[in-house]
Amino acid sequence: MFSATAMPANYDNSASFYDKLSRLVFGKALVNAQIWLLPRIPKNAKVLIVGGGTGWILEEITKLHPGGLNITYVEISAKMMVLSRKRNTGANQVKFINKAVEDAGLSTDFDVVITPFLFDNFTEKTLPGVFQHIHPTLKPGGLWLNTDFQLTGKWWQYLMLKSMLLFFKVLCGVPAWRLPDVGKQFSKFGYDVTEEKRFFGDFVVTRAYRQ
Ligand SMILES: C[S@@+](CC[C@H](N)C(=O)[O-])C[C@H]1O[C@@H](n2cnc3c(N)ncnc32)[C@H](O)[C@@H]1O
Repeated sequence: MFSATAMPANYDNSASFYDKLSRLVFGKALVNAQIWLLPRIPKNAKVLIVGGGTGWILEEITKLHPGGLNITYVEISAKMMVLSRKRNTGANQVKFINKAVEDAGLSTDFDVVITPFLFDNFTEKTLPGVFQHIHPTLKPGGLWLNTDFQLTGKWWQYLMLKSMLLFFKVLCGVPAWRLPDVGKQFSKFGYDVTEEKRFFGDFVVTRAYRQ
């Protein structure tokens, strides 16, 4: 029904330079936005990461939790996954799944779900499908950490967003032309924002949600 799996973005073509390009354009803003939420991960938690890219977030998590976590890392790009597997994950247990999250067959007992810049790969039409796959994986009362771009009315945000979407459309087949309404999905499934911080002139927003 939903075409998210029919036409998925493929970041293989950008895996070798994705992090460098991101730092060049945004400095450390995209990294800081994701790091800001990580201290909320409880000890010994079962953590799901979807769309972790090159996997640098695994090393940041390991700095805070050198062991004790049970992490499932789902990434659709084979080349991103190769890089992710090389990361230092300390004594944490990490299961790598190189599939679309929609096809990953995940359990429903995660304490924390992390979706860092995942949803901007989806359209208004395909977002509900992927959201419906991720939502049941989180335990009742669990924590969902989400980071995304947002438009707050500044002209340069619009220009940057369109340039990025065009770049990744040509290179990686990202189907989106605009940002889908992610907040609407969280509301629909009864999530409340418990913490929020904005980065890079409000262009990036990171939020913790609980149901
Ligand atoms: C915009 S990149 C962000 C990468 C990383 N989170 C970061 O901030 O550096 C989005 C990532 O999500 C992955 N991805 C896209 N759709 C996916 C899906 N359906 N299931 C799993 N991963 C997906 C892409 O391969 C890509 O690595």
